[in-house]
Amino acid sequence: MTTLLAFSGSLRKDSFNTRVLRALPALAPAGTQIALFDISDLPMYNQDLDGETVPEIVAALRAAIAEADGVIIAGPEYSGSYSGATKNLIDWASRPFMAGPIIGKTSMVIATTPGPGGGKNVLPATSGLLQALGGKVVAQVGAAAIHEKFAADSDTIIDEEFAQQLREGLAAF
Ligand SMILES: Cc1cc2nc3c(=O)[nH]c(=O)nc-3n(C[C@H](O)[C@H](O)[C@H](O)COP(=O)(O)O)c2cc1C
Repeated sequence: MTTLLAFSGSLRKDSFNTRVLRALPALAPAGTQIALFDISDLPMYNQDLDGETVPEIVAALRAAIAEADGVIIAGPEYSGSYSGATKNLIDWASRPFMAGPIIGKTSMVIATTPGPGGGKNVLPATSGLLQALGGKVVAQVGAAAIHEKFAADSDTIIDEEFAQQLREGLAAF
């Protein structure tokens, strides 16, 4: 069994990136389990909060990443790069110093935009963060015009090319 932990770098309720994450279990190979971890309530990283005790959600986040075989980050592209939420998640998970659970973790990065950019800037930026922490990024999947890639009123992906890229990314774990 391969267990993957998925995070959305968009906190909004109807986020396309979050919807892509919800679509992943149907595209995953047999024996792969994907859990979505909600980071909406993660406080902004503050070293004063990061002592012998940490906020409950931080402890839960670190334990969940430590237990997972890999992580998936689907982020929006904000101002040509990753969102603050994505960076904040990585900052919390990168500590304790030299022992953060995301250090060396295998990952997949996804970025989708309704516009034509398709996450071309945020994919390498997010991958660069994970690689700087010693992780291997097994796949980077982007998509433009993401609003056209779902079935009406559901999180099912109907664009076969995009679905196939996601399948291959998941299989790469
Ligand atoms: C603050 C902000 C900055 C954005 N910057 C970009 C950008 O640089 N490139 C881009 O393609 N889209 C940009 N967008 C549009 C997002 O791609 C779009 O809002 C997308 O739906 C966000 O992802 P989500 O649906 O997962 O929330 C930006 C949106 C916001 C709110």
